[in-house]
Amino acid sequence: MSQQAKLSTWASNIAPSPTLAVDAKAKELKAAGEDVCGFGAGEPDFDTPDFIKDACIQALNEGKTKYAPAPGIPALRSALAEKYRNDNGVAGVDPSQIIVSPGGKYSCYLAILAVVSPGDEVIIPAPYWVSYPEMVKLSGGTPKSIFAGADAEFKITPDQLREAITPKTRMVIINSPSNPTGAIYSPAELEALTQVAVEAGIYIMSDEIYEYLLYDGVKHISPASFSPEAADHVITVSGFSKTFSMTGWRLGTLMAPPAIAKAVANIQSQTSSNATTFAQYGALAAMENWDQSMAAVNEMLTVFDRRRLRLLEGLRSIEGVQCPRAQGAFYLFPNIDTFGLSANDFAAKILDEEKVALVPGEGFGAPGYVRLSYAISDEVIEKGLERLSRFCAGLKA
Ligand SMILES: Cc1ncc(COP(=O)(O)O)c(C=O)c1O
Repeated sequence: MSQQAKLSTWASNIAPSPTLAVDAKAKELKAAGEDVCGFGAGEPDFDTPDFIKDACIQALNEGKTKYAPAPGIPALRSALAEKYRNDNGVAGVDPSQIIVSPGGKYSCYLAILAVVSPGDEVIIPAPYWVSYPEMVKLSGGTPKSIFAGADAEFKITPDQLREAITPKTRMVIINSPSNPTGAIYSPAELEALTQVAVEAGIYIMSDEIYEYLLYDGVKHISPASFSPEAADHVITVSGFSKTFSMTGWRLGTLMAPPAIAKAVANIQSQTSSNATTFAQYGALAAMENWDQSMAAVNEMLTVFDRRRLRLLEGLRSIEGVQCPRAQGAFYLFPNIDTFGLSANDFAAKILDEEKVALVPGEGFGAPGYVRLSYAISDEVIEKGLERLSRFCAGLKA
């Protein structure tokens, strides 16, 4: 390879998205006219509520088309600080501790870049969201995963975390509710993990992007709310994508202790500048009309819950499939180990033979599992379940 064509350490280290292969094949099949049942969706299948879109359109019409302050428009930062104080119980949050970024994904990367240096370790409980390890590698850090399978409800214990911490550890990533498992830590479990992190002097990056997508009456809690000391150790990342069906708007949020928030604002100012100005006015409408926003979320949740229960029941009725009852997000994560195929092969084969697209667990650090999203229509769920049970029966036969 010529010197010019040589890629950087970062570019050479990064893995392509493991979900991409199945996704690309599913799209190809659909384009060729095949009837594909797609369980791969990582986004709500609802439109953004009209009042949010209207506020954005109004902002455009009013000429809010220029650069905004890099960390976000002041009114949105204030509204988010208020939300974290009132809704999440994080005492004394100041708007200066809030950054609005171009997407929850970028918020995660900013949080990692702000505290992880080359050689540092970041603990990532598996199953994990596919992007975390790659972001850690892009920062020069080393991802260290610890596993919690279905038997542990996909949740690590304080002892597991304590044992994984070394002098090089800078951060642990907690994602509750979780993508891909839908698992949620109880307040007591989360408080115990937070205590371990505080005692060890490491940061928690708490990814709360699914915080409002909850079922069975479970409650979400933010680690930053446990105590001022806890808040000093937590970087909370989130965004508007999942709660308000705004994936295409690219709006993320981050709340951090003052010195970290300042560093994050600096990094953002030099790398992306502000998140899209007029989009932030749409998000502001979501924050300022909270009751209306929550009514829209509840409508979506009623539909998601119905689909969740149907998909769970359908999966559990298939011999050889074990599926924990996820209580958050919009994913189920069944174990398919008994079929004697790797998850990658299972996903490739079922796509090929039955035109069912699901995401294999390898990319989530969980071989033996597959992820199914229920952010899809009831009809696709029914048809997909029929095909899935036929496929599994064929494998068992
Ligand atoms: C756990 C988790 N965090 C963050 C994100 C990023 O969301 P976005 O960049 O759309 O705001 C996602 C999206 O799939 C996610 O699943």
